[in-house]
Amino acid sequence: MRIPRFGDGRDWFFEKRFGLFLHWGLYAIPAWHEQHLYRLGLTRAEYAKLIHEFDPVRFDPDQWLDLAEEAGMEYVCFTTKHIDGFCLWDTAQTDYNVMNTPYAKDVLAMLADACHRRGFPLCLYYSKVDEHHPNFPNAGGPYELPGPEAGDEPDLEKYKAFVKEQVRELCTNYGELGGFWWDVQVFEHSDPSFNELIRSLQPNAVINDRGFSEGDFDTAERDWSKPADELLAFERPMEACQSVGMESWGYKEDEDYYTVPYLLQSLDKILAKGGNYLLNVGPMADGTIAPKHAELLRAVGRWYQTVREALDGAEPASHLTDSREVLLTRKGDALYVHLFRTPRGDRVLLNPIDALPRKATLLNTGAEVEARVDLVPSFHQQKKAYLRLRNLPVEDLVGTVPVVKLEFEESR
Ligand code: GLC
Repeated sequence: MRIPRFGDGRDWFFEKRFGLFLHWGLYAIPAWHEQHLYRLGLTRAEYAKLIHEFDPVRFDPDQWLDLAEEAGMEYVCFTTKHIDGFCLWDTAQTDYNVMNTPYAKDVLAMLADACHRRGFPLCLYYSKVDEHHPNFPNAGGPYELPGPEAGDEPDLEKYKAFVKEQVRELCTNYGELGGFWWDVQVFEHSDPSFNELIRSLQPNAVINDRGFSEGDFDTAERDWSKPADELLAFERPMEACQSVGMESWGYKEDEDYYTVPYLLQSLDKILAKGGNYLLNVGPMADGTIAPKHAELLRAVGRWYQTVREALDGAEPASHLTDSREVLLTRKGDALYVHLFRTPRGDRVLLNPIDALPRKATLLNTGAEVEARVDLVPSFHQQKKAYLRLRNLPVEDLVGTVPVVKLEFEESR
């Protein structure tokens, strides 16, 4: 039950599975949504005025990475260009970039330096849709402006040439990349030459499935992916993404937030099935991460650090039990029981497993757990004794995801 490896430098992706997603751009200034321009129906000129205000004087990539570390995250994915077309690096392909803001510093270069120095693989998010570029065929479709504006020259081939040069810059000027993260999927156009270019310049970069041709991994988003719910283990590389905010990926001043238990359940579910997980925050216009976002990440981190041995280097093993209330992972002689849904009761039945572990420990607290192999009335017809964990302190664990480590004499 192990996803086939790539067999090359991209395999870092299976070692470091929890990453920090960062949506940052001009949209941090109005602080409403990363698709501010599109969702409010502004004109391009109205929105583009924000370039004169972008001045994140408190931006310090090491602080972002400190927070990522506290959360237990090991890689980063950063929006270099969202659908508004504003570029957060020193690009020669358009003036609509960070060098022409009051800040006038290549924020991507600053982040990349910090990532390289601290050993965080850096993945770059890049939007295929570009509401700003005169050659992008804006035709009122999803994520597009209602139509070309005066002076535009819609021309897909010219636009693709622009994208290619930008990809070349991103894959050349910022050192080694861990990945390339295309968005958004609505733009139907197949052209393998883009991913080929990335592969030739950045052989260790994993590429997602939202580009111009098939990539290396799937991207389940929020709760919208059925396979992420239905499969016991992913069969292909998967990286699920989720924002701390319920509305936006960019910073939203009056955001509504997910709860910590919800985020833990979501994270545990994906990691226990063998996937990767990107948890997103939107840094504020001054370059810092909002206290509420930091607090959520730290809370996730406190849980993750206590249970991570059940996830790091462990493989999905949920097929070993018929119980759908839990997920299982295994590593060596240990089997880990993840109560990734709010428990209905204080026991877990692990039929058809009928071996008694020599030790059962609740990773969250270090407390021993009572394990028995005995016949319970529900199984009177089968007359079979199965492994049962009982007296779990579930009431004390409301608000977290309990994980129990079972150590057996031999591997299951
Ligand atoms: C959604 C949003 C987009 C965001 C992306 C991240 O598709 O519409 O703005 O960048 O999620 O996966």
